[in-house]
Amino acid sequence: MSKKGIILAGGSGTRLLPITAAVNKHLLPVYDKPMIYYSLSVLMLAGIRKFLMISTPRDQIKFQELLGDGGQLGISIDYAVQDAPNGIAESFLIGEKFVDEDPVSLILGDNIFFGVELGDRLRKIEIGGDAIIFSYKVKEPNRYGVVEFDNQGKVAALLEKPTNSASGLAVPGLYMYPGDVVDKAKQLSPSRRGELEITDLNNLYLNESRLKVLPLGRGYAWLDAGTDQALLDASNFVSAIENRQGLRFGCIEEISWQMGWIDTEQLRCLGQSLQSSEYGKYILWIAEQDK
Ligand code: TTP
Repeated sequence: MSKKGIILAGGSGTRLLPITAAVNKHLLPVYDKPMIYYSLSVLMLAGIRKFLMISTPRDQIKFQELLGDGGQLGISIDYAVQDAPNGIAESFLIGEKFVDEDPVSLILGDNIFFGVELGDRLRKIEIGGDAIIFSYKVKEPNRYGVVEFDNQGKVAALLEKPTNSASGLAVPGLYMYPGDVVDKAKQLSPSRRGELEITDLNNLYLNESRLKVLPLGRGYAWLDAGTDQALLDASNFVSAIENRQGLRFGCIEEISWQMGWIDTEQLRCLGQSLQSSEYGKYILWIAEQDK
């Protein structure tokens, strides 16, 4: 796993208008917390402590208000803007200095992952010279980047929103790259829709036989929250799991404490600052368990 992570929270969120007319999509609630907590928490669980948060010129300040420099969580968060939604692969041009030729993971801020020992699995991934992406079975693969395999089980093609997909396997918004990713991103030209496509970037690695696709099985949930129905489904999903277990997921304060990046006293302080909400009470309860 890389030590650095980029969280992409720009875009225009047009499929959620008018909700997103004045508010960045990634700050909308998914049940009990802002959407961005879920993607941040996945990379934290993967052991990453150094982040670059990319958002829009209008919204950057809101993310800073929400998460600050990350010090309260024992992590560091730098901020950068994407002037226009020029595509997911533009992250690496914006983040050139941050990446500094190190391996890096990228997660889309509207993606939610849930599943047993996800963090453990991600922490064990070694990024050598290959790019690493995941595959996940979905009912409507035509909405996503898709991976197709040949009859020997080797990756045959990566396609962006194909009309038909033989595999039905979408590529979720979590990607890991070796240190040459910025150089690779510089080789891309905008697609017909005017974006630097993440699928094109991944194809550059595929063409050099440097792309690994790891299956994310049906035991995992992968949701995105880009439409009104998906946003509601995501909230309902989180609510169902959390209320059944009495445990919260995507709770960045708890994760930081579990990772040993803050101590119980720091966790309690974070809980106290939020104590009017059920979320804050939960953090205080977790801190209490440590007695
Ligand atoms: P999309 O859902 O493809 O785009 P969007 O968020 O702009 O929404 P809509 O289609 O409704 O207009 O983006 C997927 C994720 O990637 C989302 O978290 C936003 C992010 N993104 C950027 O930050 N910059 C970009 O240039 C693009 C294309 C996406």
